[in-house]
Amino acid sequence: MADRYLHFTGTPAGRLLTRRLGLPQPATLHRWSAERPHLEGALLHLTAGRSTRTEELAAVLARTGLPAGCGNGPVAAVVLDATGVADPAGLAEVHAALHPVVRSVTTSGRIVVLGAVPSPTDHHQAAVQQGLEGFVRSLGKEAGRGVTVNLVRIEGGAGAAESTLRFLLSPKSAYVSGQAVTVTDAEPGAVADWDRPLSGRTALVTGAARGIGAAVAATLARDGARVICLDVPQAGEDLERTAARLGGTALALDITAPDAADRITAEASAGLDVLVHNAGITRDRRLANMDAARWASVIAVNLTSVLDTTDALLKTGTLRAGGRIVATASIAGIAGNNGQTNYAASKAGVIGLVRSLAPRAYAEHGVTVNAVAPGFIETKMTAAVPLLIREAGRRMNSLAQGGDPVDVAETTAWLAHPASTPVNGQTVRVCGQSLLGA
Ligand SMILES: NC(=O)c1ccc[n+]([C@@H]2O[C@H](COP(=O)([O-])OP(=O)(O)OC[C@H]3O[C@@H](n4cnc5c(N)ncnc54)[C@H](O)[C@@H]3O)[C@@H](O)[C@H]2O)c1
Repeated sequence: MADRYLHFTGTPAGRLLTRRLGLPQPATLHRWSAERPHLEGALLHLTAGRSTRTEELAAVLARTGLPAGCGNGPVAAVVLDATGVADPAGLAEVHAALHPVVRSVTTSGRIVVLGAVPSPTDHHQAAVQQGLEGFVRSLGKEAGRGVTVNLVRIEGGAGAAESTLRFLLSPKSAYVSGQAVTVTDAEPGAVADWDRPLSGRTALVTGAARGIGAAVAATLARDGARVICLDVPQAGEDLERTAARLGGTALALDITAPDAADRITAEASAGLDVLVHNAGITRDRRLANMDAARWASVIAVNLTSVLDTTDALLKTGTLRAGGRIVATASIAGIAGNNGQTNYAASKAGVIGLVRSLAPRAYAEHGVTVNAVAPGFIETKMTAAVPLLIREAGRRMNSLAQGGDPVDVAETTAWLAHPASTPVNGQTVRVCGQSLLGA
């Protein structure tokens, strides 16, 4: 369903009228394309407090493809290293560093604050490092013009955050804002080719016939993966078409079938590297009107199948060392939603699964487990939402527009990246910093 308001505000008359009336002014976001793969403008590397990572970070930032800024010309991205901030005086340096430059960031630009993990033993450091989260979330709401603001907490060296910084400082993260992501000190997997990081790897995407799943399959294929596209047999033609377009294979299978994991193992006989749990359904009713069948079908597709296939594919070793699991939650699982007790329970369940399994899956199998939590994404699922609620969903976020399936797909591809080993147990919202559950 086209966002006509976004189109209208992109015209000179629309811009004038909406500005006069004080209505939301969504910017046209710069998303990744082969023609425009990088942000357009310079990168400013700033520091607050005393950092021990300056040189290593500079080397990582030099590899993002963005020229270093020297004070004049458009600024596409600002990276503020606040890892050494440990008291309120350091926090004042955060203000002093960003205050003069925040206005010069271009449309669809990026502000990334690097923090440290709040200390369990030093409450002064913990207070100000937690303070950075409030700072980032507020700046995300103020920035406007499609500028995103995110916090990356690093446990170890800046090198562990390379895949994360490359993602956040690229057009691939256009709809990710107001997030706090922790990067551990785990050793990143080797990358032979940053343009095709999944080359030689096999990925399975559930619910791949259409919507977000089809975009995920296409993005992983762009990154070099051989994709197995799974969807229900009723989705037959769409599924075949998606798989054929990507040079992948189609697996017509209901993910809730008792033999689903066996069928996947048979299809991926040489092993799997990336497992994307994307298939999902809604069966909305308020609890008082919800029969047991609506409850059961949503839990079965959105949660039980995720638990069962994850367990089986780890146990059989089908998902091999260096593997990645990316599950699909929802902001409804964080904020709750009227008429969605079943759906929100299933999606909050996915977040619980990720949090609990991630450390064990990595220790025992060398596999990371993360989730994406989409906000309002323009798909057939949201096209079915009543008009007024749909308009509210689109506008009630810092970017004043809905996301595209590709926004969730790019976030999934970052989590599936071989160099993203240090990103584990995270739930990353792809919601333009929605007001819901923020
Ligand atoms: N669209 C949004 O705004 C939004 C927001 C938050 C979360 N999500 C989640 O993102 C995921 C994709 O959503 P979408 O908007 O692309 O939905 P969609 O309805 O367009 O696509 C979902 C796909 O999953 C498939 N599927 C459903 N049940 C299945 C089963 N039992 N076995 C195999 N495949 C099955 C469907 O056939 C369909 O192709 C879902 O998990 C959804 O809950 C979407």
